[in-house]
Amino acid sequence: MSTNSVQEKLTQLLDDAISAIDAADNVSTVEALRVNYLGKKGIVTGQLKQLGSLPADERPQIGRWVNDAKRTLQKRLSARKQELESAARGQQLNREVLDVTLPGRGNGVGGLHPITRTLHRLQSLFVQMGFETAEGPEIEDDYHNFGALNIPESHPSRAMMDTFYFDEHTLLRTHTSPVQIRYMEQHKPPLRIIASGRVFRCDSDLTHTPMFHQTEGLMVDEGVSFADLKGVLVHFLGQFFEDKLHVRFRPSFFPFTEPSAEVDISCVMCTGQGCRVCKQTGWLEVLGCGMVHPEVFRHVGIDSEKYTGFAFGLGIERLAMLRYRINDIRLFYENDLRFLRQFN
Ligand code: DAH
Repeated sequence: MSTNSVQEKLTQLLDDAISAIDAADNVSTVEALRVNYLGKKGIVTGQLKQLGSLPADERPQIGRWVNDAKRTLQKRLSARKQELESAARGQQLNREVLDVTLPGRGNGVGGLHPITRTLHRLQSLFVQMGFETAEGPEIEDDYHNFGALNIPESHPSRAMMDTFYFDEHTLLRTHTSPVQIRYMEQHKPPLRIIASGRVFRCDSDLTHTPMFHQTEGLMVDEGVSFADLKGVLVHFLGQFFEDKLHVRFRPSFFPFTEPSAEVDISCVMCTGQGCRVCKQTGWLEVLGCGMVHPEVFRHVGIDSEKYTGFAFGLGIERLAMLRYRINDIRLFYENDLRFLRQFN
């Protein structure tokens, strides 16, 4: 073969190799091409091996051409490899791009349950008027829940309360009034407390759940009168509903107070015009109250000749329903987040 045709052949080989390298679209194709051309059994290596069979005067020239071709290919191969590697790195960086200006996820804060909110609000209003908070057990005995409150065994209000009994003498408290008794057993007048907590009655419908919350209030001192009771409650209701409400005291009966009253406010839905919620009366009953019965004082050893007092009891769910205009008490306990989130 003439030197010229060897050179032509090498040039052709180099051209083919370079276009194959440029066309390679991944690192392993480049590596395969390297093996194919420059490996031990590769095409260019084969050319070098053939040098021995060439006439001696052509060997240096052709040898140089082959070595040049080899170097050119080596450079081209490693350049292509680097190109592909950096393109791959670029793609990866794009894929994993992190936008640090995006708002964070999952750091929402919970909110207080509307009943808890209502309780806190009520407590803070009474604390502002100088009342302290007290607590009592949810599992009660019938003496504190009934007897000491002047509700004798045969009294119809025991049946009225739909009590859950554990045994003959142990029950789930049906109201927070037993806390009055427990507090007066431990403390001497002057007393000014509110006691909030769960109460239980076997009852369930649109406006009743077997468990609900009450707050009990009690004030005992020398010279406490019904006027004090009215002053405290009218002030509280105005503050609680943030409205100029009409408040009315209606004579009623509770065994543990004498005289007793129920308190109505002008309907928050229709402002007293008459609607479905107030059953067209314009009034809503919100709590029960009265002057502590001397018989109750006798049970706790407080001298009813010296001291007088008032007490009241109200339902937290009822106040929350009126304040937030909720028409079904069960919504409080289904814990549907769509409902609860509205109070945050
Ligand atoms: N304990 C009563 C009830 O659950 C509410 C109540 C009425 C409490 C009058 C009182 C009160 O302290 O004086 O229905």
